Amino acid sequence: DPAKPPGPLKYNGTKLVYDRAHPWKPLGRDDIRGPCPGLNTLASHGMVTLTAKSWNWVSRAWPLTTITDLSNIEQYLPRDGVATPAQIITAVQEGFNMQNNLARFVTYAAHIVDGNLVTDLVSIGGKTRETGPDPGAPAIVGGLNTHAVFEGDASMTRADFAFGDNHSLNTTLFNQFIDYSNRFGGGFYNLTVAQELRWQRIQESIATNPTFDFTSPRFFTAYAESTFPISFFVDGRNPVRALSIANATLFFKDSKFPVDFWRPAAPSGAEGIAEVFSAHPIAPGKNANGINSYTPDPTSADFSTFCLLYTNFVTRTVGGLYPNPKGVLKRNLIINLGYLYDAIDTSGCTELFPYGTL
Ligand code: HEM
Ligand code: MG
Repeated sequence: DPAKPPGPLKYNGTKLVYDRAHPWKPLGRDDIRGPCPGLNTLASHGMVTLTAKSWNWVSRAWPLTTITDLSNIEQYLPRDGVATPAQIITAVQEGFNMQNNLARFVTYAAHIVDGNLVTDLVSIGGKTRETGPDPGAPAIVGGLNTHAVFEGDASMTRADFAFGDNHSLNTTLFNQFIDYSNRFGGGFYNLTVAQELRWQRIQESIATNPTFDFTSPRFFTAYAESTFPISFFVDGRNPVRALSIANATLFFKDSKFPVDFWRPAAPSGAEGIAEVFSAHPIAPGKNANGINSYTPDPTSADFSTFCLLYTNFVTRTVGGLYPNPKGVLKRNLIINLGYLYDAIDTSGCTELFPYGTL
């Protein structure tokens, strides 16, 4: 059975998260990383593996870095980049203090379209055999790199899918991220920078990407993700919500916590999303006929129709991938769609049961 969604943190204040139990390590040969700098960082800080402690004859002491009791330590993410939804929720809460409902909503949305619903595993990057046997087309099970089901255009630091690589850090775009932080934030990524850079990326995609698509769910995730570096990558002891270029570089480029990094002081989410949107509002839409042909799509959800985000996602996106599931696959779709709805059950949306109930 798919693991139950973890609840909120018991202790939900700030604490050191780059600790001795979660050392950063460079990528191993088969380790997978993808379009999300938050999840990439959690995987590169996977838990220490317990090794027998051995007397160090040089320093004549038990080695300081040896941890013998892992029972109270949470894994962030497995270093190979393949995880269960429950592991992802635990990791984003432990490591970044992401608010429980948001963590559940984003994680199940990603898992349902990008993960293997039979093995309960999802890749945080590209497609891999490590998630188990495929259910067959039209399902993709392609990991978070998969374009248009969750990952989308006009990312801040990743190129649009039409240009080839939608998941690796793009140096030109990261230089633009730094340039905007210098011009609009005095050397820091803050809400003003988020507003201007989000708009710049949309304008760039309209002008250069003939297949630019900025409809739901991308419309929502783009604005939310613009706030995440402020919410999550700034040390929890810092009252000024501004991210230095040095620390942005560690997270985005090296998937690495800054030395002595403490997570946010309270459960956090997309604070400031309304300000990012209203600085330069635009309707959801796409380039309908090549570059510079941006056309609003009235069937897409926007910020005034949140439940339509859920409805379109379930009926169009998930329905397109799983038109006629059977057996365990169908059962797990029902369970995971239930977990997805549970994450937004306070928003007054009507729950949908496209595959019936258990
Ligand atoms: C982008 C997944 C949590 C920070 C993305 C993208 C995906 C994703 C698929 C690519 C979207 C795109 O730009 O096209 C997830 C999932 C999460 C999660 C499933 C589970 C809760 C987090 C957390 C953080 C974070 C906790 C911060 C600590 C970001 C940022 C981007 C992003 C900043 C935008 C990158 C850019 O525009 O260049 N995420 N994410 N995410 N994620 Fe996550
Ligand atoms: Mg993208």
